[in-house]
Amino acid sequence: MEVVTAIEELRRRIREVKAGGASIGFVPTMGFLHQGHLSLMERARRENDFLVISIFVNPLQFGRGEDLDRYPRDREGDLAKARKVGCDLVFFPEEKTLYPPGFTTYVQVEGLSSVLCGVSRPTHFRGVATVVNKLFNLVQPDRAYFGQKDAQQAILIKRMVADLNMNLEVVVCPTVREEDGLAMSSRNNYLTPQERRAAPVLYRALKAGEELIAGGERSPRAVVRRMEEVIAGEPLVKKVDYLVVVDAENLQEKDPLEGSLLLAGAVYIGKARLIDNIIVNLA
Ligand code: PAJ
Repeated sequence: MEVVTAIEELRRRIREVKAGGASIGFVPTMGFLHQGHLSLMERARRENDFLVISIFVNPLQFGRGEDLDRYPRDREGDLAKARKVGCDLVFFPEEKTLYPPGFTTYVQVEGLSSVLCGVSRPTHFRGVATVVNKLFNLVQPDRAYFGQKDAQQAILIKRMVADLNMNLEVVVCPTVREEDGLAMSSRNNYLTPQERRAAPVLYRALKAGEELIAGGERSPRAVVRRMEEVIAGEPLVKKVDYLVVVDAENLQEKDPLEGSLLLAGAVYIGKARLIDNIIVNLA
């Protein structure tokens, strides 16, 4: 497995791989890899000849006062895990490599960037779209893999790829969970043991919302109220950022509920802001 930090070297390797006719699968990450990341890599490994992952904690997608400085990092552990899933190349750039002095170009996916997580994190998705665009330009993948865990991000990347005529397929993979339902996340590392025990409440709230819909409820407000009740039962939730049920394709509100729905939430437990979502399809 190669570990590449310089852009020139990455470009040279990608040229060689493409010249040999190999297909490239790509998994962008911010590292501190867990089974969620690895599930994307395993799938990309199966579906492509050459597997590239990137590990880069992208400062552009962190707002002021967010967790950029304490975001967990584990270079050696990550490289060992990447090697184990059969990764061919890890792109591990430094900040100054991707954002040299004078950098001023940003990608803004309108509308989709300003709802759900975009309300409390107004510059987050601009940072995500910009770095993913740069990484796509560098790696030139045939397929790129994203997790359903970050549903809004996956939808937005698909939109960007379609709108900018990027020549690749975006593959969205299921959320990998701990046994108690908590969606795996590098940020779960911030939780104390007591907070960790409380954290599955978000998934339980989403499932309670799903159950209500399965029982025939079609009012979004009633579903959100049910999810709020479940969250309110857990005193370790310091704050609710949002709990919503929206159209799974465009993230817009829908009343009455119909079609493909996204139940999604973000809550603060201790030092962690946790997000999760599930999709519910009504025939
Ligand atoms: P990061 O949070 O490291 O996640 C990298 C990829 O792993 C994303 O596509 C994310 O949705 C996926 N992922 C994380 N947890 C998952 C889980 N429990 N199950 C399935 N997939 C999971 O998302 C980012 O990094 C960044 O925004 C990035 C796209 C790399 C741009 O900087």
